[in-house]
Amino acid sequence: MEVVVVPTQAQGSELVGKAIADLLNRQPTTVLGLATGSTPLGVYDDLVRRYEAGEVSFKQAKGFALDEYVGLPADHPESYRAVIKREIADRVDFEPGSVHGPDGWADDIIEASLGYERAIDEAGGIDLQILGVGNDGHIGFNEPISSLASPTRIKTLTMQTREDNARFFDGDISQVPTHVLTQGVGTILRAKHLVLLAWGEGKAEAIKATVEGPVTSMVPSTALQLHPHATVVVDEAAASQLANAEHYKWTFAHKPAWQSI
Ligand code: GLP
Repeated sequence: MEVVVVPTQAQGSELVGKAIADLLNRQPTTVLGLATGSTPLGVYDDLVRRYEAGEVSFKQAKGFALDEYVGLPADHPESYRAVIKREIADRVDFEPGSVHGPDGWADDIIEASLGYERAIDEAGGIDLQILGVGNDGHIGFNEPISSLASPTRIKTLTMQTREDNARFFDGDISQVPTHVLTQGVGTILRAKHLVLLAWGEGKAEAIKATVEGPVTSMVPSTALQLHPHATVVVDEAAASQLANAEHYKWTFAHKPAWQSI
């Protein structure tokens, strides 16, 4: 695992945006794993800026969202399908139909889950998966005790996550769905490169557990320790509980110039 501590969220978002743009330029058919939540929004803004400047194109790329609510009206503005479309897919030149998400509206949720796994495999797998992290260490919507080998499937949200996400539903927890479809921890671990981002003091405990804690399904983000290419990009506040933060900073500052994240 590599830990990159940046002074500000803006600098971290730019660093990750550049890494994704470089990947797309090396490999235009890149398959991106797209996360929702507030954490990756700066990365999306950075990518849009690079696209508008003619530095990168998504024309041959594909995208796969991490997760989706189950039971929202099809046209709900906070469905993750709508969020991904609004925050990134519609702002760059992805071809129509090239950005996918789990089908939280399917009559047959089990088939929708299996179909999503198949679609990822048929696209050749995810090259780079962007991840945020929940306060309890959830990635995607894999809540504590999610199997570290899990595939895409239906999950029940914890009360804490529904409270956290109520801010997107007029602060009204009763409007936050109870169930979701999410890529599993096992699905996420099959991506070639995992890039987990976290900003602010509120994420410090989850980042401490993710990076320096024991691997446990009680904190699903600790599964990143099992991945051969995982990068954690955090600002100073999110890094504030890391015991070895100085070493991670020194390591990054002395990285060979040819090595990207
Ligand atoms: C939701 C999403 C996660 C995200 C998490 C953190 O639960 N399913 O993918 O990482 O929220 O959200 P935020 O980035 O807004 O802190």
